[in-house]
Amino acid sequence: MKGLILSGGAGTRLRPITHTSAKQLVPVANKPILFYGIDDMAEAGITEIGIITGETGDEVREAVGDGSRFGVNVTYIPQDKPLGLAHCVRIAKDFLGDDDFVMYLGDNMLQQGLVEFIGRFEADRAAAKQPTLHEHVDPPAAQILLCPVPDPQRFGVAEVDDDGHVVRLVEKPVDPPSNLALVGVYLFTPLIHEAVAAIEPSPRGELEITDAIQWLISHGHRVRHDVLEGWWLDTGKKDPLLESNRRVLEELETRIDGDVDDASDIDGRVVVEAGATIVRSHIRGPVVIGAGSTVTDSYIGPYSAIADDCAIVDSEIENSVILERARITNVPRLVDSLIGRDTEVHRSGRRPRATRLMIGDHCTIDLD
Ligand code: DAU
Repeated sequence: MKGLILSGGAGTRLRPITHTSAKQLVPVANKPILFYGIDDMAEAGITEIGIITGETGDEVREAVGDGSRFGVNVTYIPQDKPLGLAHCVRIAKDFLGDDDFVMYLGDNMLQQGLVEFIGRFEADRAAAKQPTLHEHVDPPAAQILLCPVPDPQRFGVAEVDDDGHVVRLVEKPVDPPSNLALVGVYLFTPLIHEAVAAIEPSPRGELEITDAIQWLISHGHRVRHDVLEGWWLDTGKKDPLLESNRRVLEELETRIDGDVDDASDIDGRVVVEAGATIVRSHIRGPVVIGAGSTVTDSYIGPYSAIADDCAIVDSEIENSVILERARITNVPRLVDSLIGRDTEVHRSGRRPRATRLMIGDHCTIDLD
């Protein structure tokens, strides 16, 4: 079994954060989203992983390297343009060879790992090879993961019949046949190569993996499905990203490797990385504070992730993700926020009192 992780594409929905960097590298609880998928593959014993990269390929390569720190071998597969998820399978054909593979969308986050997902596929295939007297069932050609959602129009959607068979799949339907969205984790046998070669681009100009799976069904192949256990988030926007951050921080275990002075209080589950410094501050977990960051005369409240080398002074922060090297000074209450790398938020106290902004393209500012 190999792995294919899709980390190309355009990060338009997380702008401005993704003007300059890959959406799959935005950190959740101080770990890039992409790393969760790689870790899940490593845990499931997948050691050969192909990563599709686009415009942000250099940054992805620099972050992931050759994969040895995850215990896997990574092969990079550059994609010139984001021509669709099935296009990614087309260009990965040589890497994938005749192997089964798990395809993982690099911006998806799932609570469940891959071990059981793969185990159920293997069990189904083994059972199909031992037909009973009454019944012959073909081994599955693919496996998808489904999750009931309130807004299926935003996803690929599956229709499952009364016997539990997947009968139809449609990508972002205006009139969804069900509320079962396709989660961005798939398991394919080499039959998918025939399917991705046969389909045409969709109305949005992409080769859709949903159409390739539909092609398998239409050609008499069996596609099995699992229903998701636990939470799943497509992290492409700020609020789902903050929610992923909350969910991961909920499972945090306390570890204080940095310096905390006697005048500071640490409550609940908090990670202070080595090289971080907390001075006269109150940290109420779950919170993670990255290496090289300093928190001075401040309050950092639940569900905040402060990345490396940040400086927080005289401020209060809650339920926020703060990226590397941000400086936040004298801000009485910052909540539900996503603050990019190398940014500065401060209250200068200058007269006349006013809000003075220098805002890049595609930013959102919510003033109190
Ligand atoms: O999140 C689940 C949904 O993901 C599924 O329900 C849909 O059926 C599936 O088509 C996909 O929809 P999105 O429109 O959200 O996909 P997105 O364009 O965000 O791409 C998903 C990942 O794949 C992302 O990490 C970028 C990467 N990608 C995307 C395209 C189109 C590539 O590497 N190359 C590409 O050509």
